Amino acid sequence: MVRSLIDITDLSTEELEQLTNTALDIIEHPADYAHLCAGKKLATLFFEPSTRTRLSFEAAMYELGGNVLSVTDAASSSAAKGESVADTAKVISCYADIIAMRHPKEGAALVAAMNASIPVINAGDGGHCHPTQTLADLLTIRREKGRYSDLTVGLCGDLKFGRTVHSLINALARYENVRFVLISPEELKVPSYVKKEVLQKQGLSYVQTTDLEAAMPELDILYMTRVQRERFFNEEDYLRLKDSYILTPDKLRSAKKDLSILHPLPRVNEISVAIDSDPRACYFKQVSNGKYMRMALILKLLKEAGTL
Ligand code: NCD
Repeated sequence: MVRSLIDITDLSTEELEQLTNTALDIIEHPADYAHLCAGKKLATLFFEPSTRTRLSFEAAMYELGGNVLSVTDAASSSAAKGESVADTAKVISCYADIIAMRHPKEGAALVAAMNASIPVINAGDGGHCHPTQTLADLLTIRREKGRYSDLTVGLCGDLKFGRTVHSLINALARYENVRFVLISPEELKVPSYVKKEVLQKQGLSYVQTTDLEAAMPELDILYMTRVQRERFFNEEDYLRLKDSYILTPDKLRSAKKDLSILHPLPRVNEISVAIDSDPRACYFKQVSNGKYMRMALILKLLKEAGTL
């Protein structure tokens, strides 16, 4: 089986460091990378809505000089005829050199990777995980803070269904003296499997609270998230919980001067647009960091597969 990226834990700490260093080098010397993937094809299979992740992968491949084949909608693909993920993966392996796949079912990317003969990158599988968003988050933290250790990280919003949160906890858990403040409504707390298998197993320091304002003064990073409407079983619960947290300039009064505010986007209501001009807002920088990390990842996986 060729190497894929399904979960952020598939990458060692050294590999995360290498990817970050490659991304920083791409930012400095884009021309050195502009033709490395000439003649290679990335297939983006997105069976769930996405703007930035799909376009970010596609921009990444184009900036490496490669080409892109794209399925943007399950309804227009053979999935609508009942084709299995396994078969789709086998078929796409005949056309492309690497796959980026988003799917509403947890585990779908793993099934694709087990059946593809080319690398598969998980671009989000249901409420499970989203490792390349974490790569974007890590590069943002590195550029803003210069370190991954000795940080108090507040994660706020839908910590139950928010796959970006699960992957980020898994990534940051490996660094020294990282404290997590998990801020959510009771109903949207971090799933117990993440608490048991990551936070408790590794003896990490974390607190759970519903109170964003009380937590604010101690935070170095505030990672806001959208309430994941599409994963709710009923609309009433969504409507009740959707505006649980709205970050406004007022709420930032007690925050550190060097707080970094992250959000994987799309934003709905959780961050007021008045925050966008605050120098602590990093979410649009995060988007561009995501493209550079995806470039670094595509290069790494294609090299390991022997394609480059
Ligand atoms: C996230 C996702 O798809 O999980 N979006 C993204 O990829 N940047 C977050 C979200 O949809 O809320």
